[in-house]
Amino acid sequence: MTAKQIIDNTLKTLPSDLDPQKLPRHVAVIMDGNGRWAQRRGLPRIMGHNRGGDTVRELVRCCDDWGIQALTLYSFSTENWKRPAQEVKVIMTLLEYLLQRELPELMERKIRLDFMGGLQDLPPSVQQQIDRSRAATAENQGMRLTVATNYGGRQEIVEACQALAVQVQQGNLNPEDIDQALFERHLYTVNIGDPDLLIRTSGEMRISNFLLWQLAYSEIYITDTLWPDFDRAEMHRALWEFQKRDRRFGKVKS
Ligand code: FPP
Repeated sequence: MTAKQIIDNTLKTLPSDLDPQKLPRHVAVIMDGNGRWAQRRGLPRIMGHNRGGDTVRELVRCCDDWGIQALTLYSFSTENWKRPAQEVKVIMTLLEYLLQRELPELMERKIRLDFMGGLQDLPPSVQQQIDRSRAATAENQGMRLTVATNYGGRQEIVEACQALAVQVQQGNLNPEDIDQALFERHLYTVNIGDPDLLIRTSGEMRISNFLLWQLAYSEIYITDTLWPDFDRAEMHRALWEFQKRDRRFGKVKS
């Protein structure tokens, strides 16, 4: 075995100071800081998104290698349309390109790719690529990778309310029968559940309209590292920090 193969194999294995029994089942990530990463280097912002795309690939590999069951990435919010048109276009093109480029590896790793958000408002070619990736990976039984695109937490909650209201209006549902479990079945996360860990890069202390319902009891890890620099060592730190936390879900310590 070459030195490179030995190093690659070591990186693929869960670091020995992490307990495989106490890994977060579902990790959600707010990938922030692409623009700043580029600006600090005197580069156009789009170069930051480009590097951010490479970080996405590496994180997906890392989570799959280390046994994370579900990974949800915030790639574009309902508010991101307010950015300059050229930047929006670049992000959309990058998304389409990455989905196409990464499909063979997702298949190899048996990763199931899904999307959440107002997909109907995305450019047609992005929607087509989304449909292709979804269909191709639909039977995969490995990690569940979800990309939140044109996603907003408030909008998701409003849509769930609308769906329930229609059922009430049609006489198929009593308002008294609406409980948290039923409500959750009308959210995008019906198949993946709530994140155990939310990671946000680039130091901002905000949720930014991401998974508002689902983050109620998630552990939050914020790092100053900018998204393009978030690597396996950073993920190791986030998981190590998570394992130190005492998750009580509102209960007192037993
Ligand atoms: C935040 O940085 C980043 C984005 C809004 C875009 C992220 C999208 C990608 C990396 C492509 C994702 C693709 C897949 C397949 C998930 P920012 O521009 O807000 O940075 P700033 O706060 O420094 O300006």
